[in-house]
Amino acid sequence: MKIIIAEHAGFCYGVKKAINDTEKVLTEHGQSKVLGALIHNPLEVNRLKQLGLEVIDSTDDAQSERVIIRSHGEGQKVISSLEKNQNTVINCTCPYVSKIHRIVNEYYVKKYGIIIIGDSNHPEVIGINGWCNESAVIIDTEEQANQLVINQPVCIVGQTTFNTQLWDKIINILRSKSDQIDVHNTICDATAKRQQSARELASKADVMIVIGGKNSSNSKKLYDICREITFSTYFVESSDELPYDDFDENITIGITAGASTPDWIIQEIINKFRRRGNC
Ligand code: F3S
Repeated sequence: MKIIIAEHAGFCYGVKKAINDTEKVLTEHGQSKVLGALIHNPLEVNRLKQLGLEVIDSTDDAQSERVIIRSHGEGQKVISSLEKNQNTVINCTCPYVSKIHRIVNEYYVKKYGIIIIGDSNHPEVIGINGWCNESAVIIDTEEQANQLVINQPVCIVGQTTFNTQLWDKIINILRSKSDQIDVHNTICDATAKRQQSARELASKADVMIVIGGKNSSNSKKLYDICREITFSTYFVESSDELPYDDFDENITIGITAGASTPDWIIQEIINKFRRRGNC
């Protein structure tokens, strides 16, 4: 059996930075709170909880303490309310997401309409919408783009993990409706690279394994991409979820992992294959 890991897989820059900064805060100050799961990987969040991280769901639970803002970012009002309540805010928002906040806020102040292409329920998108006073129109399908009426200048940004091919299709539709649009392709390079190398690997491998949190949208997208190419695609969060004994000795297994998947989980899976003598 041959195992190939996608050229770009696992932790991206923003997640790595959020984890490193959080570990530093926990080492220097001990117990600290984070508003929402720091990253979309429950196993990694559990590891940090053992080091003193407490996940809270609302600013009401912050109680004038140290509060970490997760990599997905938060809206302007959330951050101001924490600051007003004397919390020490440690902002671990990914710098690429902060850049989207700045773009959206700048255009909002200039009275542009804001369109976000992304999942309206995703915390990153909710946070971005919080920089234009929750006024954005949020879409993520070609049908919604077709139905949209654009009658003012608009600024378009995207969720950093949005599918690049679908983005192009939606932008083409919107461009055909108006020439008063300023498009900012804010899809993160890390996402595009992970999607592209997953695509390439899936076309060579007999079986694809996508590792990521079940609540991680970029991992789910990697799964969708691989599944379109090869039916034999597994989506797992931990090393316990694979039927190792069912894999044929002579196949090639491709492994990819979402941007919030730590190396130690990828390694655990490879080690289990090795221990079983599959490779
Ligand atoms: Fe940031 Fe891109 Fe990762 S936006 S959190 S570096 S996927």
